[in-house]
Amino acid sequence: MKLKGYATLEQTAGKSGQRQGVFHERRRPLYSGGPLVSLVGFGSYRVGFAAGLGFPQCRDALEYALRRGVNLIDTSTNYGNGQSELLIGQTLAALAGENQISREQVVLVSKAGYAQGNALEFVQQREREGNPFAPVFKFGSDLWYSLDPAFILDQLDRSLSRLGVECLDVFLIHNPEYMLKAYEHNSVPPDESRAAFYSQMTKCFEALETEVERGRLRSYGVSSNTLGATSDDPTAVSLQRLIDAAAKVKEKNSFKVVQCPLNWIEVNPIAVESADDQDNTLTLARGAGIGVLVNRPFNAMHEGGLIRLTRPTVDASSVTDESQRKGLQNWSRLAADLERLAREYITTPGFDEAPLSQLVLSTLMWQPGVSSVLCGMRRREYVADAEEAGALPSLINADQVMAQIYQDLEFHKPEN
Ligand SMILES: NC(=O)c1ccc[n+]([C@@H]2O[C@H](COP(=O)([O-])OP(=O)(O)OC[C@H]3O[C@@H](n4cnc5c(N)ncnc54)[C@H](OP(=O)(O)O)[C@@H]3O)[C@@H](O)[C@H]2O)c1
Repeated sequence: MKLKGYATLEQTAGKSGQRQGVFHERRRPLYSGGPLVSLVGFGSYRVGFAAGLGFPQCRDALEYALRRGVNLIDTSTNYGNGQSELLIGQTLAALAGENQISREQVVLVSKAGYAQGNALEFVQQREREGNPFAPVFKFGSDLWYSLDPAFILDQLDRSLSRLGVECLDVFLIHNPEYMLKAYEHNSVPPDESRAAFYSQMTKCFEALETEVERGRLRSYGVSSNTLGATSDDPTAVSLQRLIDAAAKVKEKNSFKVVQCPLNWIEVNPIAVESADDQDNTLTLARGAGIGVLVNRPFNAMHEGGLIRLTRPTVDASSVTDESQRKGLQNWSRLAADLERLAREYITTPGFDEAPLSQLVLSTLMWQPGVSSVLCGMRRREYVADAEEAGALPSLINADQVMAQIYQDLEFHKPEN
């Protein structure tokens, strides 16, 4: 049996004094007129029933997060080949069965576009039967990608059934820049590639708008790693052009949410004006009443590598392997340097004892235009850490602090 309903403004606002803790108390609209969401959302990439997907700690962390008042869960049809959605569905059903939470209090976000695992088998089967999805982009034997509206709707069906709900609060097209990547690979001129891309997005939005009318979706949008990228990036996605695409489908439409990475090193959504946008992504979204979920707060991609913006949890002296020990020592040094730097710019009192993870979260959750920061908190300790971050004073000048930190991070700047 599926849970009926969807997150409502009334139920996400709660009744004052009834529930305590920052995740209940410091909520804000997901988008203009939408339900309220906690400062931090539960990111469920690498979450599922296998040990490699963090089970059983991730389930415990999810339950704990929901009880503490985290009321936004971000997942995708491809996370753990559907296991992430299944685990979330089972956890919600269990807590709803015990009257710990209700469907109306939780914002569920999922995504589609990737054909991997079971979805890939299905897409390949359709091709073998002579009824292929189109367009399909083939990136290797285990990764295809499709922006065929029929594929997106098939994935929505499966998402609803794995999550055990009748309606999703947000459904996002997942990294549609794969289409732009494929066109770039085939040397399609950028203008032609972008025109084809936004035309395909319009078709997807048309299909999603119908699902809103059917009552299976409350809103839709796009999650993209290149939202707000610079004009010289042929895979850059423009928020303005997405807004225009949705307006073409319906003037009063349900394109309400976007998602993108934002951390101390990847600052496109706040710093850069992209090819077709007059303003940065966060400002543009705010003006249009669109909610922004930011992801990868601690996983900063830099020159193909990854920089983890937290303190290491393992003490270097306890490690016997020489290269691992050196790696941990470097990481500890970087974390200490970053903490020092951030404290220099955070003039608001109350941050002296906060560890790097909390400094990072604070600068992101108080960024004007951010609805919620998605955090891969698949352990109870991470949820508790995020809650402590949420309890710190609000950073009124979070945008200036981030700009100053970014200016001072020498290592991300290209060498002359
Ligand atoms: N294109 C997209 O749509 C897209 C892309 C990326 C992410 N997302 C969403 O955003 C969510 C967040 O991104 P993410 O999980 O990749 O990265 P993240 O939130 O930056 O977390 C990265 C890792 O940091 C560790 N961690 C988390 N909280 C911590 C804390 N308080 N202290 C110390 N370490 C901590 C965890 O590692 P361990 O568990 O290994 O210890 C976690 O996996 C994802 O789960 C997903 O829902 C969406």
